[in-house]
Amino acid sequence: MKANNSPIGFFDSGIGGTSIWKEVTELLPFENTIYLSDSKNAPYGEKSQQEIIDLSIKNTEFLLNKNCKLIVVACNTATTNAIKILREKYSIPFIGIEPAIKPAALKTKSKAVGILATKGTLNSQLFEKTSGKIETHIKIYETIGKGLVELIEDGKIHSTKMKTLLKSYIDPMLKKNIDCLVLGCTHYPYLIPIIQDIVKEKVQIIDSGLAVARQTKAVLEKNLLLNIESSQAFHQFYINKEKKVLKAILSYLKNKSIEINEKEF
Ligand code: SIN
Repeated sequence: MKANNSPIGFFDSGIGGTSIWKEVTELLPFENTIYLSDSKNAPYGEKSQQEIIDLSIKNTEFLLNKNCKLIVVACNTATTNAIKILREKYSIPFIGIEPAIKPAALKTKSKAVGILATKGTLNSQLFEKTSGKIETHIKIYETIGKGLVELIEDGKIHSTKMKTLLKSYIDPMLKKNIDCLVLGCTHYPYLIPIIQDIVKEKVQIIDSGLAVARQTKAVLEKNLLLNIESSQAFHQFYINKEKKVLKAILSYLKNKSIEINEKEF
């Protein structure tokens, strides 16, 4: 049994999962964390399922060696392609990130929902199963966000190329009268201001961050793993590429105790 002050582990194909990490650490301020950014292998969304499984196992082993008590698979592509195998193989709890299609289906008035995600997520069986459960009178328009993860990993969130790409993906969905847009990739919440500018107030943007944080808390509670000490949490980041962009994205963490390690893993 892991001690309750053992860290929560997170992994993602890169820096995008920090959008989930931020929600979790806000809801659970006393939890220590370790975040693994496999930026060298981003994007996962263009890889085969077997490659995604192998990378997810490698990342999990790294976090288990650091004594993590629970792992958040902070990547939609890794969740939809590998979480079932991780849960079968390891005994600790895993939290996954699935696109928030269900909440969008409940909110939509136009009965048309857009979803922006990677090829790996949209082609996965788990995604097919989840979207198949949505009522048939709601139309779901899926769009692959090809190239978006690479631009975010390169620190080019506010580039002209990003705006052009996003417009080319979102405009066709707007023409289909969507009123909810689901962000099905943990990198995409960093694009919300740009997306908002494209969709104006016509469309509600939905991401999974807060729901995942609540689920993480509930699972820790259920397994008696919640940290009962209320001392300052310590956050470690490991990245196998240059840490500059990760550092920039974490620059809002002024009063958190963090350490960033640039390292092969
Ligand atoms: C990717 O690596 O292609 C995106 C990660 C995600 O799906 O959240």
